[in-house]
This record gives sequence, C-alpha cells and structure tokens, in this order.
Amino acid sequence: MGNETITLLSVREIEKMRRAGSLAAELLDYLAGMIQPGVSTLELNDEAERWTQKRGAISAPLGYRGFPKSICTSVNEVICHGIPNAKQILQSGDIINIDVTPIVDGYHGDTSRTFFVGEPGPVAKKLVEVTQECLRRGIAAVKPGAKIGDIGAAIQEYAELNGFSVVRDFVGHGVGRVFHTAPQIPHYGTRGKGKRLRPGMVFTIEPMINEGTWEGVVLEDGWTAVTKDGKLSAQFEHTIAVTTEGVEILTLRAQDREPALVARI
Ligand code: MF3
Ligand code: CO
Ligand code: CO
Repeated sequence: MGNETITLLSVREIEKMRRAGSLAAELLDYLAGMIQPGVSTLELNDEAERWTQKRGAISAPLGYRGFPKSICTSVNEVICHGIPNAKQILQSGDIINIDVTPIVDGYHGDTSRTFFVGEPGPVAKKLVEVTQECLRRGIAAVKPGAKIGDIGAAIQEYAELNGFSVVRDFVGHGVGRVFHTAPQIPHYGTRGKGKRLRPGMVFTIEPMINEGTWEGVVLEDGWTAVTKDGKLSAQFEHTIAVTTEGVEILTLRAQDREPALVARI
C-alpha cells in the first residue's frame, strides 16, 4: 500500500491547516445545532454551503470526483459518502455522520462526527461511543517513530473487543493542499508494521465501525456505501499532524486548543 512520497508540511503550512481545521470544527458545531427529527439532509447541506461561503471558504466535496453536494450525510447503515437529499428526513433514533471539508487559503480541514437524532437505542449508543473512543485511541498511537500499523491496531483491538467490526474499504489519508494523498491510514492492522511516522506528516484518522459485518456495498449512485447486512455504521474523523512532541489535532475548535507553546515559555 502506497509507494508514493509523503509530503511533510512546514510549520507555516500546519498553521494554515489549523485555520481550516478549526473552521471545519465550527461548521460541525453549527450543523449539530440543527439536528432534530423532521430536518432533511439537504437542509443540512444547504446551511453548510451557506455558512462556508459566508466565511470565504470552499466546500471541498462539492464537485470532487463528481460528488454532487457540499457535505456527506451518512445515516444509520450508511458507512460513508451519503449524499444529502430533500426526501431523507431525520427521525428520532437515527444516527447521522456529518463529514465536512472546508478549504481555507488552499488547505483542507477534514473532520466528521456521528450525532444522535432524538434518543438513541442501546446498540446505537454503544456503537457511537465505541467509535469515538476508537478515534481517540488511534490518535493516541501517533508520535514520531511510531508506525502506521500502530494506529490501526489500536483501533481494531478496541472495536473488536466491543463486538464490532472495522471497515476495510475506506481508510484515512494524507491531506493538505490536496484532499486525498499519501499515506493511507487503515483502521485495522498490526503494531510495528507500515511506514514510520515523522514530524510534519499530516493525515486523517477516520474509523468507520460497524455493528455487524465490516463488509459494505456501494449503491447505484456510485457514492453511498452501506453495510452489507443493513446494520448500523458509525464514524468519527480528525485531521492530525505528527509533531516533534507527539500529535496535534488540527480539527479542534480554536477555543479547545492548548495554548501555543510560546505562551507557555
Ligand atoms: N470527507 C471525506 C473523507 O473523509 C471524503 C468525502 S469525498 C466526497 O475523506 F466526494 F464524498 F465528498
Ligand atoms: Co471527511
Ligand atoms: Co477524510
């Protein structure tokens, strides 16, 4: 997997990624406030596009390899790349992943969260909580000198311990000026395997965790990936940078960031 060169981002470029990343986090916060039974996924999309344009940013998904909308909205058995639609109305008990990627000054901030619509059932609640913890553990495995396989191993171990499965068909990816580039970051794997992590690498970790089988199929629209067994799938995503110290999450709200190193000296 991946003999392409991995671009290392400079400190200046990482600062631009922080700006794109915090805008992405703020957009998710804004959309989170709209989620309730009766809202259509198209309404979420249209508000996301309006909000993004108002801030002078660009929605990367719109027109990307022919994707027709500005965000991905993946409900219940949809693994990823759900296309917003006026006829798709959120109902209490649904789970919905919203995946946004604004481009700010040429750099991409790629992040997603899974939200509950109304009150979740027990399985949905556990799946979403486990998936969020998978992302946390994947991020915690990142530091210079660690291997790409360490990330997937940490995620897979926790998902399977909880009786869930890890999607194989979609992986995390390098991101920067380009939306999807090297390296690929599988959410399954073996500790000690794969490329070594180095300061300046910037990539996403975006585990998709399934209630049942990890296998998926892509619908006729060419985008919507659903679970083969129709059971639930959840996902969380952050864009991160490998730093000399360890790891920095770039897709946090500005107010959730640690104070800059200079401020602590
Ligand atoms: N944001 C998605 C990711 O996490 C990619 C969406 S591509 C699109 O990589 F074309 F579906 F928008
Ligand atoms: Co994404
Ligand atoms: Co991504």
